[in-house]
Amino acid sequence: MKKICVMGCGYVGLVSGAGLAQFGNYVTCFDIDKNRIEKLRNGIMPIYEPGLQELVEENSRAGRLDFADDLSEALNNCDAVFIAVQTPQDVDGNANLEYLYKAAEDIANSTAGNPVVVIKSTVPVGTAKEVAGRINDKFEERNLGYIAEVVSNPEFLIEGKAVKTFLEPDRIVIGCRQDEKVCTLMKDLYSKPADEGRELIVCSNETAETIKYAANSFLAMKISFINQMALLCGETGADIDTVAKALGSDSRINPRFLNPGPGYGGSCFPKDTKALVRTAEKYGVDMSLVREADDSNERHKEILAGKIAAIMNKNGVSNLAVWGLSFKAGTGDLRNSPAIAMVKSLYAKGLHIKAYDPKAMKEAEHLFKNNNFNIELSADMYKTLEGAEALLVATEWECFRESDISKVASSMKGNLIFDYRNILDPIRVKSEGMKYYGVGRRYETD
Ligand SMILES: NC(=O)c1ccc[n+]([C@@H]2O[C@H](COP(=O)([O-])OP(=O)(O)OC[C@H]3O[C@@H](n4cnc5c(N)ncnc54)[C@H](O)[C@@H]3O)[C@@H](O)[C@H]2O)c1
Repeated sequence: MKKICVMGCGYVGLVSGAGLAQFGNYVTCFDIDKNRIEKLRNGIMPIYEPGLQELVEENSRAGRLDFADDLSEALNNCDAVFIAVQTPQDVDGNANLEYLYKAAEDIANSTAGNPVVVIKSTVPVGTAKEVAGRINDKFEERNLGYIAEVVSNPEFLIEGKAVKTFLEPDRIVIGCRQDEKVCTLMKDLYSKPADEGRELIVCSNETAETIKYAANSFLAMKISFINQMALLCGETGADIDTVAKALGSDSRINPRFLNPGPGYGGSCFPKDTKALVRTAEKYGVDMSLVREADDSNERHKEILAGKIAAIMNKNGVSNLAVWGLSFKAGTGDLRNSPAIAMVKSLYAKGLHIKAYDPKAMKEAEHLFKNNNFNIELSADMYKTLEGAEALLVATEWECFRESDISKVASSMKGNLIFDYRNILDPIRVKSEGMKYYGVGRRYETD
């Protein structure tokens, strides 16, 4: 059984830590946020992810997972230390690596041994080499005589399904210097999923770092493409759902990430596309496709918000209910949420907004208060509709998809439905005397 330390108990660190424990390793998770560690020790999850609480409890009970607020203690006798700290977007669009470099420095200063350093955070090509250099400088200062081994092991988990996608990954990418011992260690840590037939791709650090940005940028382009097609369908009378279905049934394309909506968000796609564009610029390569995917995504949210404002204005109404605030279903994460972008834009246009989200209410309250947005929050999805003249469905939560349309109609004061996730049945909505607006769908109200 290998011993691992995971630095950072956010979405990636906590899920990876619990997941690596589930794979049979002994894991200590460390975070600089002592409050977070205290809560985790008491079984309180800092984030919402289906199955996470159970996974943490099961592995803690089995003695394979614990939490530390002292790094030296967490690093004691470790075979590997995973860095899973944030790499947010910098003002110029580059990835901000200050947290990552600080974590690397903390390892170099605190460790007694020489664990393999595994970068799980999303970092631009060349970062592993830079981290190895920085750690080696510290090792030299400390006269330890160690040479750092740094592995690039980007994470592909999907928020909202993080546990499942970590435990059953499409592939595991291991970028390293092809050192026999390091490769064997990494294969050992992931032996469970590998034995279950999950693909292990062993490559150079540079290739691994590039794969992560290529994957996120490709998916972002797919989303921006289908959203532009949806806008075209909205103008021509074609039906985007049927277009997307036919596109997706082509095995070269595949149906995933072809759902039209308000655009992508979250903590990854917006920042990773921008960082890839910046990296390419540094090397004199034109990454215009990715840049345009990102620009188009920004414009898309504003186009959709503009449509709502125009239609509400035409109907002489100003009270809007919003269902869904998180950036997608299954998570309470509001980072770069297109729902929030639309709410902010519509609020600035003078609408009165009442909102509900199944998992992000606390985060939303905090966000609106900090930004001085006078947005009312309602703890009940149908009560949100009281007094509303229009409803915007902004996140594809299952409870909205399965909502009782008669109850929606009778709860609302007005009759405008903006289904910007294309999850309601337009015919059913119209049968209740309401006007239906989706994203590029047939049966929309003219
Ligand atoms: N969230 C996702 O869906 C996702 C998916 C794949 C990859 N990633 C990447 O993984 C990385 C982490 O993302 P996240 O969403 O988990 O971030 P997060 O903000 O949720 O968590 C980061 C955690 O690291 C802690 N931290 C910061 N500095 C530290 C240090 N020196 N030592 C110990 N802990 C420290 C913070 O306190 C925080 O708890 C990013 O690079 C991100 O791009 C994220």
